[in-house]
Amino acid sequence: MRKKIVAGNWKMNLSSSDSIELFEGIQREAEPISGVDLVVFPGFLSLSLLVERSGILVLGAQNAYPGHSGAFTGEVSLAQLKDLGINHLIIGHSERRMLFHETNAFVHEKVTAALDLGFTIFFCCGEPLDIRSANQEGDYVLEQLKSGLWHLNETQMAQVVIAYEPVWAIGTGQTATIEQAESMHAFIRNQLKIHFGPEVADQTSILYGGSCNPSNAKELFACPNVDGGLIGGAALNKDSFIQIAQSF
Ligand code: PGA
Repeated sequence: MRKKIVAGNWKMNLSSSDSIELFEGIQREAEPISGVDLVVFPGFLSLSLLVERSGILVLGAQNAYPGHSGAFTGEVSLAQLKDLGINHLIIGHSERRMLFHETNAFVHEKVTAALDLGFTIFFCCGEPLDIRSANQEGDYVLEQLKSGLWHLNETQMAQVVIAYEPVWAIGTGQTATIEQAESMHAFIRNQLKIHFGPEVADQTSILYGGSCNPSNAKELFACPNVDGGLIGGAALNKDSFIQIAQSF
C-alpha cells in the first residue's frame, strides 16, 4: 500500500525560534495518524536545531547541491545534510526552477546524486498558467517526469515521492479543482505504469501542492490518485497544518 503523506514546505519563512515553536507545537498537538507520514521542510538554518527534537515529524531539506564538497560558495551539499541526519529532500520545486533557473538537466543531476546517497526525494512537477491555458499540461509534466525520473530503476523509485504542483496554484489561493487535480494525478500514475510497470505506479505516492488548506484538503485527499499534499502557506500555522494532516 502506498504511503499517505502530508508535508510542509516552510520556504524562506520563520526565524529559528519561530521554527522551533512551530515544530514543537505540531509535535505536541498532532496525534500520530495511522498510515499518514508527516514531514516538514524548514529553512537550512533551523535544520540543525530541529534534528534533535524530531519525533513524529520527519525533517527534510528544501534544496541541496549535488556535489559532495568543494568550491561552491553559498551551497549546502547532500553529504552535509546526510551528516546532520537529514534523509528527505525536495527537488525541482517550481520556485527553484523559475527563480533560480534550475533546468531539467540540473534537476536530473540532483535526483541521481540524492538517490545515490539514500535520500527520499520529493520530486516536484507542474505546469505554468500559459501551458495550462494552451491545454499542454500533460506534455509539459511528462517532459519533467521523463528527464527527472525515467532513468531510475524500480528500487530507486521506491525512494521517490512525486508532488504535482501547478505553478498557477502555488501561493495564489487558486487551488486546482478536484477534477483538474485528480485528472493530472491519474495521468502521472498512468505514465509511471507505462514506463515502470504497475507495481511502481501503484506504490508511488503522488502529492498535490498549490493553495491546499484546511477547507479543501479533505476533498483533494479523497481523490483516488491523490496521496496527500505538499503544503506551503498553510503549513506555517500549527492548527491549519494539523487540520490538513487530519483530512484523510
Ligand atoms: P502553497 O505552496 O501551499 O503556499 O501554494 C505550495 C508549495 O509551493 O509547495
